[in-house]
Amino acid sequence: MQEGVEKGNIGIFDSGIGGVTVLREIIKILPNENYIYYSDSKNNPYGDKTKEEIIKRCEELFRFLLERNCKAVVIACNTASAIAVNHLREKYKNIPIIAIEPAYKMVHDYNYDGKTLVMATKGTIESERFNLLYHKYDNHKTTLLECVGLADVIEDGNEKKIKDYLEKNIGEYKGKVENLVLGCTHYPLVQKEIGQVLGGNIRFFNGAARLAVHLKDVLEKYDLISKNKEKGKIVFIDSLGKKEKEERFYKFLKEE
Ligand code: DGL
Repeated sequence: MQEGVEKGNIGIFDSGIGGVTVLREIIKILPNENYIYYSDSKNNPYGDKTKEEIIKRCEELFRFLLERNCKAVVIACNTASAIAVNHLREKYKNIPIIAIEPAYKMVHDYNYDGKTLVMATKGTIESERFNLLYHKYDNHKTTLLECVGLADVIEDGNEKKIKDYLEKNIGEYKGKVENLVLGCTHYPLVQKEIGQVLGGNIRFFNGAARLAVHLKDVLEKYDLISKNKEKGKIVFIDSLGKKEKEERFYKFLKEE
């Protein structure tokens, strides 16, 4: 057996290519692992789906990844994490499941007094899991904004539509925000555009880099780190199989 491969792949999934913002942080500190990234664009967006639909779909994707020799799975979608992670952890106790969540605790840790805007999907903001986090770290200067349709617009990649969406939906917060929580993995792809609409000196909070450190800790704890000496491979799978998705995914993977 080839060295390193025996320990398996790291599976990672999102409702589309947004999870690339998580994967690019992970490969910075775990470059030698092999990854299978599943972009479920056929079912995008997750944010407007029912709890039952999201749990069912996440379980299908989880099993798909396990069948492809994944030793750990990263849920690179805040909505899927918020709704399905407890169910998956309860059912699949032997596989480490690492899940992204809106980096609201970081606001508490780094700029508690700042006026804060949390941008996330409706599914995330209404979830019990996010509400527990929010009430635990509430700085009483926070607005929660359900950005219905934004992940979709980003997924499609039309720059004019992205700008129009942001002007229309976050324009009213211009000059009124100090902390911005990017509570959906698609949103870091338009961080610059969000900053242009809001103006001023904004601190962006994104949980991806912390997730990457946590993943590394977990792999070390269970002795699952690959012994591969070379850079690992990334396999990209999209449920619609569109070539254009794959190209954008690799383009974003190289971007900061
Ligand atoms: N990237 C997903 C998230 O982090 C997008 C959700 C959606 O498809 O609505 O929430």
